[in-house]
Amino acid sequence: MLFDTHAHYDDAKLDGIRDELLAQMQENGIDFIVNAGVNIETGVNSRSLAETYPFVYYAAGIHPSDAPVIADRQGTVDSLKELLAHKKAVALGEIGLDYHYEPETSSVQKEWFDFQLSLAEELKLPVIVHDREAHGDCMDIVRAHPNVRGVFHSYSGSVEMAKELLRRGWLLSFTGVVTFKNAHRVAEVVTYVPLDRLMLETDCPYLTPHPHRGELNSSLYLHYIAEKIAEIKCIDYHEVCQTTTQNARTFFGI
Ligand code: NI
Repeated sequence: MLFDTHAHYDDAKLDGIRDELLAQMQENGIDFIVNAGVNIETGVNSRSLAETYPFVYYAAGIHPSDAPVIADRQGTVDSLKELLAHKKAVALGEIGLDYHYEPETSSVQKEWFDFQLSLAEELKLPVIVHDREAHGDCMDIVRAHPNVRGVFHSYSGSVEMAKELLRRGWLLSFTGVVTFKNAHRVAEVVTYVPLDRLMLETDCPYLTPHPHRGELNSSLYLHYIAEKIAEIKCIDYHEVCQTTTQNARTFFGI
């Protein structure tokens, strides 16, 4: 029993093997997948995956790397609302801030992140946040929307920041990064975060866990992340699988 809370099966890297991969999920213990869109086009593709596969749900949102290139703001907002009205749309995401690649676009990124948190409140949807090297500004915007709940995906912040997010009712999710040999900082956070506030994700086809680094990632490798979290927290593997699946079902309302 496993729930992959963040995947990108619409990614072009999976062209040619997408259906073959997804056909193997249920027999391998992957009960649910949330496919995350990063713009309108990938949101539409996520929706068609959710309409094809009963165990696939989706999130739609404007990613911080996509926000700066949007030409038609109103058209984009209308399309986003339409995508989020579907019965298998379970979250607004992925949204957030990314200062690693494009720090110079921070003001347009912040504007879209702030706007989408308002939209999540209006639509009563949880959010999936992408925060890369932008912890301070992400937290400022989260604090400005106290009625919105969400998850920081592939969490990379400090224990202090995790404490504040937990106090505000947010969850944290972890990828194959926890299995990397130099992942001391993230292991420290995993140790601190209670199991009932934690979710698992692959972010596939990216962030492939050890010992498969360098290969394409899929939800079939999610168990490596569950095993590592069980090892870090010194608890039973099956307890990690069951509790994180239940957390995700509650979070997404599935
Ligand atoms: Ni992602």
